[in-house]
Formats: sequence, C-alpha cells, structure tokens
Amino acid sequence: MAASNPSSRQASSIFELTTKSVEETQQLGERLGSLLRAGDVVALIGELGSGKTTCVQGIAKGLGIDPSSVKSPTFVLLRDYPGGRVGLVHVDGYRLEGEPQAIWLDLEWMFSAKKVTVIEWADRFAGCLPEARLELRLAHKTTNQRLLSAIPHGPRAMEVVAGLRSS
Ligand SMILES: Nc1ncnc2c1ncn2[C@@H]1O[C@H](COP(=O)(O)OP(=O)(O)OP(=O)(O)O)[C@@H](O)[C@H]1O
Ligand SMILES: [Mg+2]
Repeated sequence: MAASNPSSRQASSIFELTTKSVEETQQLGERLGSLLRAGDVVALIGELGSGKTTCVQGIAKGLGIDPSSVKSPTFVLLRDYPGGRVGLVHVDGYRLEGEPQAIWLDLEWMFSAKKVTVIEWADRFAGCLPEARLELRLAHKTTNQRLLSAIPHGPRAMEVVAGLRSS
C-alpha cells in the first residue's frame, strides 16, 4: 500500500474557485452559509478589498439573515446578527494593532457554540483562533476576479468543504 502523504491529502481537501463579480463571491458565500451550523468558525484572510465582507454578506444570506444588514464592523471589533436559521457573529480585526490577547477578548462570546462566527483579518487573531475552523483565503487576480481558497482545519471543516464541492 502506498504510504499516505499528509501534504497531498491536505492539498486535495482544499477547494478553490475564481469568482468574476461581486455577485459570484456572494453566491459562493451563500453556498457556504447554507452548509454552516452553530459552532462553526470561518477565518477570512485576504488583503484590502479582496472581498471578505462581500463573502460574509453571502454567508449571512445562506444563514437566512438579511445580507444588506451586514456592514464591515470597521470601528467595532464585532457585530452580532441574530435571527436567521443560526445567529451570526461578524468579527473584523482590521483596526487591531499588534496581536490581541485572549485575556481581553470575550472568547466565549466570539466563538459561541450557539452561533456561526466569521472573522475578517483572521490572521491578526492567530493565537486566539480555535483549531477547528474553515480558513477562507481571498486574493485579487484582476480588477473583478478573486481567487477564493477554502482550507479546512479539522474534520468538521472538511465536511463543509466537501459540501461546497458538491453544491
Ligand atoms: N469578484 C469579486 N468579488 C468580490 N468583490 C469584488 C469582485 N470584483 C470586484 N470586487 C470589488 O472589490 C471590493 C471588495 O470589497 P469588500 O469590502 O468585500 O472587501 P474586503 O476584503 O472586506 O475589504 P476590507 O479589507 O477593506 O475589509 C468591492 O469594491 C467590490 O466591488
Ligand atoms: Mg471588509
């Protein structure tokens, strides 16, 4: 039997998609949102204007929350959207300076087992993120094209990525 290769297993579990418009990024978000359940964490990582908030709007829609209510929580760290099939916690680390300390973050609120948590600039929360999470990387390809890569960390996130692939 061939020896299993963890790096190729990891590579094959990544789901990638190039979107060509805001609407396509929202649609991918919606597909993802419809697969999420309470306790799931989505860590969005991507440069300015790469489409993180656009994607969160789609995720909200997939959870049954009005997507137009989702704005980038630029001046606050966190916004809570109740209602929908599952509540949504939207975190944005853009204004954080230095790595936040778990001690001054309300981690129980941020990563509520009763809600879905999505985090923009998740790389700025490195030490505070749960191990089990779906990492979603966004990158500019052209003015209107974004490469979205969903990278699962843990079995639950792998299940979500499998769902994305087949939806
Ligand atoms: N394929 C695409 N998907 C998403 N956004 C796109 C796409 N093509 C162009 N855009 C534009 O890119 C911008 C994305 O903005 P958005 O607020 O979603 O990014 P962001 O990553 O949240 O930015 P920030 O880092 O400021 O929070 C918008 O101006 C949108 O019109
Ligand atoms: Mg944003």
